[in-house]
Amino acid sequence: MPLVNRFADLLPEITEWRRDLHQNPELLFDVQRTAGVVADKLREFGVDEVVEGIGRTGVVGIINGKDNSSGNVIGLRADMDALPIHEASGVPHASTTDGKMHACGHDGHTAMLLGAAKYLSETRNFSGKVAVIFQPAEEGGGGGNEMVQDGMMDRFGIKEVYGMHNWPGMEIGKFAIRPGSIMAAADQFDIVVTGKGGHAAAPHRGIDPTVIASQITLALQSIVSRNIDPLENAVISVTSFNTDTISYNVIPQTVSIKGTVRTLSSEVRDQIKERMETVVEHTAKSMDATAELEYHYGYPVTVNSDKQTAFAAGIAEKVSGPDNVDADIAPVMGAEDFSYMLEARPGAFIFMGNGDTALLHHPEYDFNDEAIPHGCSYWVQLVEQAMPA
Ligand code: NI
Repeated sequence: MPLVNRFADLLPEITEWRRDLHQNPELLFDVQRTAGVVADKLREFGVDEVVEGIGRTGVVGIINGKDNSSGNVIGLRADMDALPIHEASGVPHASTTDGKMHACGHDGHTAMLLGAAKYLSETRNFSGKVAVIFQPAEEGGGGGNEMVQDGMMDRFGIKEVYGMHNWPGMEIGKFAIRPGSIMAAADQFDIVVTGKGGHAAAPHRGIDPTVIASQITLALQSIVSRNIDPLENAVISVTSFNTDTISYNVIPQTVSIKGTVRTLSSEVRDQIKERMETVVEHTAKSMDATAELEYHYGYPVTVNSDKQTAFAAGIAEKVSGPDNVDADIAPVMGAEDFSYMLEARPGAFIFMGNGDTALLHHPEYDFNDEAIPHGCSYWVQLVEQAMPA
């Protein structure tokens, strides 16, 4: 049971939708046109219930199967938003808006889930219900979290959720997944070190925050190497370091440091935050300065449930053959806000090959339409196998 034949017929139509979305990118929660297109199409397909405005601009469609004897409701999720990047792909369907582009393939994710919704509405060869979830603001903004906070899971009785992301550099038709942590938590921090400014020729009369902030930067690097279990994974990167002076002969009053923390477990994440608080406060104190840490929690770790991941890998094998599925890839230190849906319900997030294209978030990136039949077949077979009619 490889690719679903129907998607060979639907490919030109789904490709047309995808390219229309690509030409009309929208950012964060401001995806009104995209959400409107999605809702109109779902109604046109005869989807039983279409609800707009969930998590501000998210859309959910409910498709009833032949019967409801399984009592199950499976959520399939796509993201709709684009990025603030000026497109340089040179394709005929390039963005028509300067400074906005679909550089992460969310146009492809949306089009594939629409294709699956069309097929599932036509055939209804399953028992139970499918919730097709279209979320805004994946690229910062946490639209997935907003939909969960809006009560989406309880309102539609969703019991499991599945997500998918295209992956440049992986061949078309290949899938990759792993149980447990598959993508990192991405947090940010701001530190302000306050000393006592003065003349650079008389450092003993001031308290130099530059030296203290440098000590803090180095001490932060010892957290991963000295406090975290070497078998765990973590990154602390200082990415910005600024004093409040531009002079050659002035010791500044303050230094601001910014950076990011990436972790693959919530325990390590909490441990790093605690250690940072101690290191920042006491390093400054030991040198008669003060320092404040603001730690901003970003997207949590994306954690795949064991049972649903094994099931999803099995479906991918049915679609593409066992040789084309890696069921134990290494985790990725990027983040994904499908993590919030996986915190709310068991499920699995899978990567799908986008072929030899530019990388995600690159100005020359374009979603590969050849991947459409693979993604659509994965979605509909997942539904039909999880909830057989
Ligand atoms: Ni993305």
